[in-house]
Amino acid sequence: MLDLAQRDIAAHLHSQTNPTQFEANGPLVVTRGHGVYITDADGKRYIDAMAGLWCASLGFTHPRVAAAAERQYSELGFYHTFFNRTLPKATELAEKLVALTGMTGGKAYFATSGSEANETMVKLAWVYHSTRGKPGKRKVIARDRSFHGSTIVAASMCGLDFMHREFGLPLPGFLHTPAPYLYRDGLPGETEDAFVARLMAELEALILREGPDTIAAFIAEPIHAGGGIIVPPASYFPEVHKLLSKYDILALADEIVCGFGRTGSWFGKDTTNYAPDMMALAKGLSAGHFPISAVVMSAPVYEAVKAFNSAGGNFGHGFTNSGHPVGLAIALEVIRIYEEMDVVTHAWTMGARLVGHFHELANEFDIIGDIRGEGLMLGIELVADRETRTPFEPALKAGMAFDRLAYANGLIGRCMGDTLGFSPPLIVGTAEVDEIADKTRTSLKQLTRHLGR
Ligand SMILES: Cc1ncc(COP(=O)(O)O)c(C=O)c1O
Repeated sequence: MLDLAQRDIAAHLHSQTNPTQFEANGPLVVTRGHGVYITDADGKRYIDAMAGLWCASLGFTHPRVAAAAERQYSELGFYHTFFNRTLPKATELAEKLVALTGMTGGKAYFATSGSEANETMVKLAWVYHSTRGKPGKRKVIARDRSFHGSTIVAASMCGLDFMHREFGLPLPGFLHTPAPYLYRDGLPGETEDAFVARLMAELEALILREGPDTIAAFIAEPIHAGGGIIVPPASYFPEVHKLLSKYDILALADEIVCGFGRTGSWFGKDTTNYAPDMMALAKGLSAGHFPISAVVMSAPVYEAVKAFNSAGGNFGHGFTNSGHPVGLAIALEVIRIYEEMDVVTHAWTMGARLVGHFHELANEFDIIGDIRGEGLMLGIELVADRETRTPFEPALKAGMAFDRLAYANGLIGRCMGDTLGFSPPLIVGTAEVDEIADKTRTSLKQLTRHLGR
């Protein structure tokens, strides 16, 4: 009998994994989760400073979540929300999401993944403009370095080359404008406001070049996650809004990572002054414990869908598991726990503690160029020269080397190029925050030696 790693290599294609390296190195076999820790098949324990994929906000097991799922499975293990059906928990969760997001008079729509939620927003944007007599408004503007998912439209909206390369994406009509990455893309001496003005000039030029009557929507993560924890200057989204209203373009927020306390507010839009017409929610919605996502839309967007179908048509969209009863039960319980623990204050407090540690580390390690983020969505950008912000030679793969060392030290991190990401479960406590910082220090010491400095 082959061992599990060999069987996995033989039978399993992994997401975002290099097949050749995988066949050579094999998997990390994760067998258990407890709080902010996971354990591998050899019994080694890791503190997961990325909450898995930015999502396990309540850690990797939670007795109340397990109990909610078990109760729901024994009451109703499947039903759907097509053809006028509803489930009491679908009503309750929809009400809750509309209230939490502040989309007064709006509606919630359920799906099962972040990609689906983002694609749903695009379809709703098309319907919205069509109903208002502007069917030519079809194009979507996204930002460089953004991540919006892996299905074809969601991947087209990503601003990351590796999401397009093999697939001939983006699809026509999916456009990109620069990210508000002041640390890397600001000109020497450029103020935040001047940087934002430059980005706005580029965005407006793009809109005019393409034709305002062809643009349906602008989509943004309030803070870029997988693109390297890019926090926009405070004036960025207010300025974006001026252009969106000038040219009748809908604002879509991908809150899939930022939502549910991650940035120290309930939603990233509140941290960054973004005022979207629609929001895509996933990950933190169920703390990663069930594949459920949602779109919360404003009243005018809903009214457009209604008007579009007023001649008797159906809203021709839906997923078998839109509003899966177990997903609903889990999401409701997760949100109750967030409210009871005051997740927003906790994320903010723990985030401040972790950032404090990172600033101490910056005194010790001159390869730390930038520390950025909000709440518990943090990044450290490594550089060859702090003064000049010169990056490391890409061939050195400094970020990946850090991840490898951290992993050996029992810390799961996630580099994005040479930016180290930290997005631990939101239940992380002070001792665990200190442990993340200690293990980061140890790994940075080893990295410094590895880089020959
Ligand atoms: C910001 C953002 N949007 C969308 C997605 C896609 O979500 P899913 O993988 O559930 O389709 C992700 C996944 O990491 C994400 O980080």
